[in-house]
Amino acid sequence: MNTPRLVAAQPQAPLVPNPTPGGDFIQLRDVCKSYGEQLVVMDNMNLDMRADDRLVIIGPSGSGKSSLLRVMMGLEGIQGGTIGFQGKPYINGGKRCGKPLDESLRTQIGMVFQHYTLFPHLSVLGNLILAPMKVHGMSRAEATEKARSYLARLGLESKLHAYPSQLSGGQKQRVAIARALMLEPKLMLFDEVTSALDPEMVIEVQNVMLQLAEQKMAMIIVTHDMHFARHIATRVVFCANGKVVEQGPPEQIFTKPREARTREFLEKVVHLD
Ligand SMILES: Nc1ncnc2c1ncn2[C@@H]1O[C@H](COP(=O)(O)OP(=O)(O)O)[C@@H](O)[C@H]1O
Ligand SMILES: [Mg+2]
Repeated sequence: MNTPRLVAAQPQAPLVPNPTPGGDFIQLRDVCKSYGEQLVVMDNMNLDMRADDRLVIIGPSGSGKSSLLRVMMGLEGIQGGTIGFQGKPYINGGKRCGKPLDESLRTQIGMVFQHYTLFPHLSVLGNLILAPMKVHGMSRAEATEKARSYLARLGLESKLHAYPSQLSGGQKQRVAIARALMLEPKLMLFDEVTSALDPEMVIEVQNVMLQLAEQKMAMIIVTHDMHFARHIATRVVFCANGKVVEQGPPEQIFTKPREARTREFLEKVVHLD
């Protein structure tokens, strides 16, 4: 069993320069999403999140956890309902099929996936500076400076000119996190980012996420690592059949789940103590 430890406070500049204060940060209202006619993955789903929340989404395989993150990232549309982000309309279902109404809001969300999505033909530096130059019109010099700074804070400065194929799995995921942070997101989405890693690399990635948590980054995390979930979550959300079945503080969900379905799921994936 991995035992992530909170890393000591870093003397360097924070990874999260301006965390958003509390408030209504994300509001999902009656969100409907299906693939084709049959497969409903979000069935009038409602979910609220404050900016100081770290939601860990748990649920059976195929229950739509990745779909939810992809919707938030604007990678997929929804058929019905609305999503608000930072108190503003963000995504509406229906006619525009759920594409973000406000592109500038979408760029405030960063995502890291299970399988490394670094561009293999670009160096670490190339991967980090691409979006800031393209999206924010940053100069190459400024973006490079920023990339150096983020990599240093993540202990990856020596990898600046390395290519993804020369990195370990854990290093790739840390670079993927650094790349997302380059755009100074207000929200980070993590979809099973340690599932494909060898055990000894899981901790280094989890430690970066814990560092972000300490610095008040708003996060939605999908993970099967219940130990880590318990450690990092302010709230655990159990989803099944397209709905939020139960949510609450990790202590409550992991030790006293109210719903039979939550209990059944947890009994399969974790030994409750
Ligand atoms: N692009 C897609 N087209 C059709 N079906 C999909 C697509 N993406 C996911 N699905 C299906 O939707 C369901 C939910 O998938 P997903 O969101 O990946 O669930 P989870 O991340 O909880 O395992 C699964 O049955 C999956 O096979
Ligand atoms: Mg998934």
